[in-house]
Amino acid sequence: MLQVPGHIRGIKPYVPGKPIEELERELGIKDAVKLASNENPIGPSPLAIKAIVEGLGDINRYPDGGCYYLREALSERLGVDREWLIFGNGSNEIIELAVRTFLIPGDEAIMAQPSFVVYPTITQAAGGRSIIVPLREWRHDLERMVSMVTERTRIIFIANPNNPTGTINTRAEMDSLIRAVPEGILIVIDEAYHEYVTSGDYPDTLEYLKDGRDVLILRTFSKIYGLAGLRIGYGISRPEIIGAMEKVRQPFNVNTLAQRAALAALEDTGHLRRSREVNEEGKDFLYGEFRSLGIEYVPTEANFIYLILKEKNSGIVYNELLKEGVIIRPVGDRYVRVTIGLPQENIRMIKAFKRLMGRGIKI
Ligand SMILES: Cc1ncc(COP(=O)(O)O)c(C=O)c1O
Repeated sequence: MLQVPGHIRGIKPYVPGKPIEELERELGIKDAVKLASNENPIGPSPLAIKAIVEGLGDINRYPDGGCYYLREALSERLGVDREWLIFGNGSNEIIELAVRTFLIPGDEAIMAQPSFVVYPTITQAAGGRSIIVPLREWRHDLERMVSMVTERTRIIFIANPNNPTGTINTRAEMDSLIRAVPEGILIVIDEAYHEYVTSGDYPDTLEYLKDGRDVLILRTFSKIYGLAGLRIGYGISRPEIIGAMEKVRQPFNVNTLAQRAALAALEDTGHLRRSREVNEEGKDFLYGEFRSLGIEYVPTEANFIYLILKEKNSGIVYNELLKEGVIIRPVGDRYVRVTIGLPQENIRMIKAFKRLMGRGIKI
């Protein structure tokens, strides 16, 4: 009998946000709203769609394994050499490449909780140990994370902004972490929601790289660029780090259409601006509604909001909202995360919250 190794048996499966079509099938409705996966509600850039349509005739060929044109465009935009970039099938794949490159069984990776659930899964799949540091006041407790460093620490994961809380760690806090972490540990700074941040205290992490620190910055086209379904993200780091990860990367990991769409999306500054505006307006609207309903929330720097429930009833809130045709994300038993949507989607969600409250469900 084939044995599944213990460290694989112990992995908790990733639970994705419920697909809209699935809920519509179940409820027999046509207008469900998904505010569960931090996707861009305005959709992809029309320029990206055009690039995809134009690229369709080429999909008999393998993609460009080096992502030449996208690499050129990003290296110019970011002011880094081309060898400082690595592309992945979503930034998820870059997380996986980092772990597979730098961590061997028994090694440790330090991460916060709650934070992006993929860090512990990938660490465990590689036979590593996840060292979990609870958030403090909804933010990464960087001092405590540094204090957990041992001889076996290989990676520290920091999501900035953090998912699911939407909080950031400031430049000053990150500077102290960078100073305190001993050499030889890779600091992965996951900036999936980078383009949504409005705080003036948000660190420019490229500076750390230019200072020669062992930092890997992660960015993605899945969020503000609206290309989650195509799967494309990238990592920025020094060539020694990128070069090692390149050895582990599959040759054709990023498909042709994703590369072309990402390049076009990058050029569409209007789409980026509109996406930010819709997010800011939605944020203000939802803050106002939550305040008037007495729903406690954590102020966000991203495109989602973390709600602190009055009781341990996140499962009930989630299921009852589903019946209203609204998909959100429960986190643990006392919290839910809601993505900021289009105005009509936000209104729909608030109405659903009101109906739940009207039925005596505490939120
Ligand atoms: C913090 C964080 N990092 C990475 C990702 C993964 O994004 P991608 O679609 O690029 O794999 C997400 C997606 O939800 C995220 O929240």
